This record gives sequence, C-alpha cells and structure tokens, in this order.
Amino acid sequence: MNRIPFTDRLLEYSKKEITSFHALPLNSGNGLYKSKLKEHYECLFGKEYLANEVTYGNGWIDNPIFPTDVLKESQEITAKTFHTDLTMYITSGTTVANQIAIFSTINHGDRVLVDRHTHQSIHFSLSLTGAKIQYSTFVSEEESSGRQFINYDSLIHEFQSAFSKGHPFKVVILNASTYEGVINNSMSIIEKILDISEDVTFIVDEAWIAYAAFNDETKKYSILSSINEKRSSYPKLRLICTQSPHKSLNALRQTSYLHVIGDSKLITSVSDIKYKIHTTSPSYPMLSSLELAREDMVINGNDRIQESLNLVKLFRSHMEKYSNLSINSKIPKGDFWALDPLRLSVNFKNTNLDVNDVKIIFQKHDLYISRFTQDSFLLNFHLGINENNIDRLKNALKELNNTHRSYITNSTSNEYVIPYPPGVPVLVPGEIITRKIIKKINMLENCKTKIMKIKG
Ligand SMILES: Cc1ncc(COP(=O)(O)O)c(C=O)c1O
Repeated sequence: MNRIPFTDRLLEYSKKEITSFHALPLNSGNGLYKSKLKEHYECLFGKEYLANEVTYGNGWIDNPIFPTDVLKESQEITAKTFHTDLTMYITSGTTVANQIAIFSTINHGDRVLVDRHTHQSIHFSLSLTGAKIQYSTFVSEEESSGRQFINYDSLIHEFQSAFSKGHPFKVVILNASTYEGVINNSMSIIEKILDISEDVTFIVDEAWIAYAAFNDETKKYSILSSINEKRSSYPKLRLICTQSPHKSLNALRQTSYLHVIGDSKLITSVSDIKYKIHTTSPSYPMLSSLELAREDMVINGNDRIQESLNLVKLFRSHMEKYSNLSINSKIPKGDFWALDPLRLSVNFKNTNLDVNDVKIIFQKHDLYISRFTQDSFLLNFHLGINENNIDRLKNALKELNNTHRSYITNSTSNEYVIPYPPGVPVLVPGEIITRKIIKKINMLENCKTKIMKIKG
C-alpha cells in the first residue's frame, strides 16, 4: 500500500479542537449554533464530514494552491501510479480540467484538430481561445444505442494533409470513451499521428474510464497504462489526459485527475493555467477522496473490477432468456473501437413499449437509468453494483419483457376508451392515438380507475 499522507493529516487535524479565524463557519457545524437547520445539515453531511470541512494551509495541512507538503506528496504518488510526470487534483470536475488542458496548450490563431464528438467543456473552452479549429466529423452511428464511431482514418488523413501542406496542427484533441461506452483506441491514433510528426500536443479525455488502468483485462483501454513503453519510442511525447474519478472510482463528485506527460515547458504551462483558473478554495474532503480513490484502486482495483466484469458476463447470459430484449453490440470493423465491457446498451424495440413506459417500469422498481434512446437504455455496471442490485434489475427486465403496449403511437383508434369517473372518452374510434393520450391511459390504469373499452 502507498501512503495516503493528505488523508492522514486531514484526519489528524479534524480531531483537534482548533479555533479558526480564517473562514468556513461550517467547520464542525460551529456556525450552526442556534440554527434551526442544524439537524438538516447533520443529516446531510454527518458530524464527521463537517469536522473534515477545514481550510488549514501551510505548516498545518498544506497550501492547496502551491502545495509543498502532504498534498504535493499525495499528487506525486498518484502521478507515479498513473506513470505521469505531473498529476494534479482538480475539484471542479473534468469540465475544468479540460479547460485547463486547452488554455495551457492553445493560443489565439493556433491550428487545432478536434474529434467533433467530444464533451461540451472542450467546445466551449476552445471557442474562447480564438484558435483555428478543424473538427473531424466523419462518423457512423448505430442508431438504436445512439453510439457514434468516429472515423479515425479520416482524422489521421486530415493531420497528414495539413502537415504536408505546411500548416500543421499544433494540438489534437481526442475523446477516449463516449458516454454510451464506445472506447476509442486513442494510443493507436496517437502513434499514427506521431509517425507523421512529433511536433504536436495531445489532449485525451478519459473522463469515463479512469477505472480501466487498474485491471489486467481493461488496462489496454487506458493510454496511461502503456505510456512508459510508448515514451521510449516517442521521447518527445506531450500529452494531457483528464479523468473523472467520480464516474468510475470511489471518489466524491466533481473530482478530476489532470495528468501531464511531457517536457518542463508543458508542465509549467499547465501548472500556471491551473493556478489562474482553478478555485482557490478546493474542498479538503474532495482532495482527500482523490487520494483515497487512487489507493483504493491500487489495493483492490484489479479484483473489484474483475468482479464487475464477471457480473456482466453472468448478466449477458441471463439476457438470453428474454425474447423481447437484446444487447446492442454492433460495432464497425476495424481496430479503432471497442465497447466498454462495463456498459451495456439494452434494446427493447421488440416489446413495442414506448420509452416512457420503460421509464415508468424502472421507476417502479427503484432503478435509476439516465440514458435512453427511442428503443434502448444504457446500463453502467460500475463499482458498487452487486448481485442484489442485478436481481432487482432482473425483476424489472422480466416485467419489461412481458409487458405489451396495447396502444401504438400515431395509429388510429378503433374503440372508445372511457374512464369512469367521469365517463368522458379519452379516445373515440377514428382518433389518432397520440403519446399524450397513451400517457393518460397509462396513468388512469396505474391509478386503478375503471376503464371501459368498447369497439366502435
Ligand atoms: C467525455 C466527457 N468528458 C468530460 C465530462 C465532464 O466531466 P465532469 O462531470 O467531471 O465535469 C463528461 C461528463 O459527462 C464527459 O462525458
């Protein structure tokens, strides 16, 4: 096990009875003296969390802006874990980590080649730089899952062509994994571009796959796992990689790792921009969770991720039982793409159910799913999903598989549908059955209202 110096120091100081004349009335709930809301705060955060909400700088815990002590050591251990030259803890999400990456590498008028299907944080940050942006847009889409597959041959061709014409791209921005679970082989793209020119900086957004580096089966998906080996072939490699540990590791929300690989010029530039953009009041519990998430993975990552992969394998064979549900697994031929083994897209087209019907069934089973298309939903088997959770999911899927919608959107009704009370038809023969009407009938049925259905 590595040291967790920041967390150890934070816990040491949170136990002391210190009176702070700096800021943060919420520390230990002290500012809530006589507050009617004290109980609410304690229910939300717990006494321990409130005790750990501190802001002790140099000589106590560490200076959060220019760390020299335990925060510096913690970031260095994390950098070593990910094989980077510098890793910084960001407490405003990968949204801001991406912004830092862009502002530290791109100036007004620079030419930048961008995978068009990157997160909004990249687009908005780029729009502020005044750079000359070329989007690589050629993409194929698997309609049911909504998965998009960037054509990397065309991206590499664009890089080659600009280089040959004498106006090369200074920065290339790649998205390593999409929300829908398409993992791009970023390292193979980077190598192909470096074979054309090494005079380029890469920004790679690994927001979704911070977990990948910690398991034998999945480490091939993270560029950082093979970075040492690649650096011996490409010693000038300059790369910034951002990750959202809160998406796949045990870290608090809004945390991000900003990893830098490269020369001292790049490191200085990223550090300077981080200083200018990042909050000057990072949350100490969030910083601590970035340290703990790394160490949790170092100790348990391989096994825990393997358990999740095994759960997915079992779940995949369970899915064969359902005649009306299937797993979307179409992917174009080629070496550039893979599907995240922990994220499955399930197709419910054959049930004939509307996406709203599906949402209602999941909600009834207390299952939260965030990504739907017209006929699919996305399941993320992240750490923490266990067999009991999957049993609950199976109950919902069984119901989904066996439920058939009696009304099809935009078809024509051949009956009266009359709820009682009040005895006023919600549908008459010849009327177009809109989604709104179906929703109303579903709602009435859910409320166990008596409904007469009489052929017209
Ligand atoms: C690919 C990608 N990059 C960056 C982000 C932003 O990350 P965060 O929510 O940590 O700010 C997201 C958010 O979903 C994302 O999908």
